[in-house]
Amino acid sequence: MYQKLDLDKINRNEAPPQEEPARQYYFMAKCRNWVNAFTQENGRPPRACVTTFGCQMNARDSEKLMGILEAVGFCPTDSEQADFVIYNTCTVRDNANQRVYGRLGELNRYKKQNPQMKVALCGCMMQEPTVIEKLKKSYPFIDLIFGTHNIYKFAELLCASFETEGMLIDIWEDTDKIVEDLPVDRKYPFKSGINIMFGCNNFCSYCIVPYVRGRERSREPKEILREIERLVAEGVVEVMLLGQNVNSYGKNLDEPITFAELLREVEKIEGLQRIRFMTSHPKDLSEELIEVMKQSKKICRHLHLPLQSGSTRILQQMNRRYTKEQYLELAERIRREIPDIAITTDIIVGFPGETAEDLEETLDVVRRVKYDNAFTFIYSKRTGTPAAAMPDQVPPEQVKEGFDRLLKLVQETAREQVAKYQGQVMEALIEEVNESDASLVTGRLSNNTIVHLPGDASMIGQILPVSLDECHGFYYTGYCAYKETK
Ligand code: SAH
Ligand code: SF4
Ligand code: F3S
Repeated sequence: MYQKLDLDKINRNEAPPQEEPARQYYFMAKCRNWVNAFTQENGRPPRACVTTFGCQMNARDSEKLMGILEAVGFCPTDSEQADFVIYNTCTVRDNANQRVYGRLGELNRYKKQNPQMKVALCGCMMQEPTVIEKLKKSYPFIDLIFGTHNIYKFAELLCASFETEGMLIDIWEDTDKIVEDLPVDRKYPFKSGINIMFGCNNFCSYCIVPYVRGRERSREPKEILREIERLVAEGVVEVMLLGQNVNSYGKNLDEPITFAELLREVEKIEGLQRIRFMTSHPKDLSEELIEVMKQSKKICRHLHLPLQSGSTRILQQMNRRYTKEQYLELAERIRREIPDIAITTDIIVGFPGETAEDLEETLDVVRRVKYDNAFTFIYSKRTGTPAAAMPDQVPPEQVKEGFDRLLKLVQETAREQVAKYQGQVMEALIEEVNESDASLVTGRLSNNTIVHLPGDASMIGQILPVSLDECHGFYYTGYCAYKETK
């Protein structure tokens, strides 16, 4: 695990080591030269801003980027009027790309005001050759571009970009490497994401992720456990195990292990209080996992189980490898075995060839499973995926109508589900002072529901009993019931 290294002890005049992570430590030390020169010239250290688009895996990658920036001497800031700004991008739907292009113009303006400023782009969108062409042509002010497979080389790339005039681009097509022990700057002191695997092998026909994140690779269980133990020692009480399909974790390791077995090991870590994970593909969700969740004292009562569509015909076209009936049976079994669990989902509307009948099937599943929350997406055509070449792309008006109906229904089921616990006392992890009312703090229940209650910053990071007095649709207001239960 990365210990606070004394970078100044590394001899920067020698040739860089070949092995990782020593090589990156060497380049971190070298980056210091630039940072020190900047500090001397400007009378202050340079400021760095990391902006994240996309999923929790990207958020975790951003913490790694900021970890390196801080280790080499940058001061973190949320403002993009900084000396180094990096966008960690997403390309899962076209609007994610458009948001990046939309904001780049602003960065260009900042850079004109501050000619020392460096702009970098990384993440999933950079793995698409058409994006790189567009950036080269229309956004020449960008200093550094790299992708998802070589993110562990960030220190080396940063160093190279300090020594290069103009745009530096380094994109790899794939990697089988997992580099451990690089610094991380965690956003929250009390909770953390942990990558347990990278990439995806599922190739759902609409999805770009397998193309931009590469093949599935699991981390060694001992590395994961070591990382969590260390986090707990630093004060973390909740971890979120991250992977595109955690249910296939460990299958390709030299010594295979199941996700359920990994969870059993994580559960044993003393001091760790809550375990979450994301995302579970229904086709791989095992009996063993349900059993482990049922018995666990630490695994949160929340399962994100993406449905995508309720129509077996569309599911087949999507290459999801389950039917409507299989999904329903699974969801029913989970609700039966773990009655207090919250089930949430992702649904796509407007997949090529989707008819009004197909949408009815989806609505039927929503009514039956009664999701506690659902993320609904309008299908976005991703060039290079099989679905992009399918005939019968659905006209936008039809998609919009279906989307609105679905949204209304998921809001109804979510309201109904969330309200079930009104009047009860449940444990909440207090996460932050409420943004709009500083006399309140915001906590999260095991089932992922939010509760606002009177309190102050000293409660942050504690798991406290809270009375769920009033349900306001998707969240509760309540009181800390600590005294009553003591
Ligand atoms: N690995 C996760 C999902 C990662 S992407 C899983 O399989 O569940 C997050 C969500 O984005 C997906 O669940 C899907 O609902 C949505 N999504 C992916 N590709 C999309 C596309 N081309 N158009 C619209 N939504 C998409
Ligand atoms: Fe995409 Fe499917 Fe992999 Fe999820 S499981 S990342 S939806 S290909
Ligand atoms: Fe987006 Fe990449 Fe995540 S495409 S959803 S950031 S894996």
